[in-house]
Amino acid sequence: MKAIVAGATGTLGLRILKRLVQDADVTSIVTLTRRRLEPGGESAKVTQVDIEDFLQANDATDRLIGDADVCYWCVSLTMDPSEMKRVVDVVTIGGIRRLLDARTVGRPLRLVMLSGHHVIHAQDTAPKDVPNRDFLILRGQADVFALETAQKQPALLETYVAKIGGVERPERPLSDEARQRMAQFKVPLIHVDDLTSALVFVGNGGRHIAGQPATVLSNDDLLACGRQASSV
Ligand SMILES: NC(=O)c1ccc[n+]([C@@H]2O[C@H](COP(=O)([O-])OP(=O)(O)OC[C@H]3O[C@@H](n4cnc5c(N)ncnc54)[C@H](OP(=O)(O)O)[C@@H]3O)[C@@H](O)[C@H]2O)c1
Repeated sequence: MKAIVAGATGTLGLRILKRLVQDADVTSIVTLTRRRLEPGGESAKVTQVDIEDFLQANDATDRLIGDADVCYWCVSLTMDPSEMKRVVDVVTIGGIRRLLDARTVGRPLRLVMLSGHHVIHAQDTAPKDVPNRDFLILRGQADVFALETAQKQPALLETYVAKIGGVERPERPLSDEARQRMAQFKVPLIHVDDLTSALVFVGNGGRHIAGQPATVLSNDDLLACGRQASSV
């Protein structure tokens, strides 16, 4: 199996990458990042591609990514409004278009998009009082693009949007204040190891349901996937 990890230098991207490096079924991995991987992410299986080079169509990158089975999209957004728009439009939506344009094989790419619990997909039904609503709407546009593209072109793309809650990491415990804020806004929690297992389980096809090319996974769904992953 060939995997792509976009944002592999980040907290979650690097964890996913390390899992894939250990997975005997994964034979090669392409990372899309704006800086070099730190030790721990490097392996003979891994080819590092600069994400800006990837965004400019070129044959060399197309050959590398055109036959991938799965892509984990772990690029995060900044709160700076102009940069945020670029990350949504140019990096993420542009990046998904590039992945599809480069396709050389007749099976769909499984795209696992890392998103957030409160990210807004349907403006009319979203709570009006949620903090950073504009950010969450803009952020949701990338998810909606990926979901709608999979609905329209199921032979090319299968999308899973993971609406992740607060991530508990033993090396960096959440402060009491952060916990209180999450409780106030009803953000559920998930342990980083369960989350990583869940995302890799989904990426390996564990949540595939025939005829369902676009799926949104709640934090509870991810907890269930994490449990399923550890029971196999
Ligand atoms: N961690 C959590 O608690 C949590 C909870 C819920 C949802 N999520 C979502 O999960 C995803 C990953 O989160 P994370 O915590 O792993 O994020 P992170 O540690 O901030 O890593 C983000 C990754 O995106 C890359 N990136 C950021 N801006 C970029 C740009 N303009 N161009 C190219 N690459 C860019 C970063 O590159 P550099 O390393 O070069 O900066 C890094 O590789 C995000 O979408 C986040 O919202 C995370």
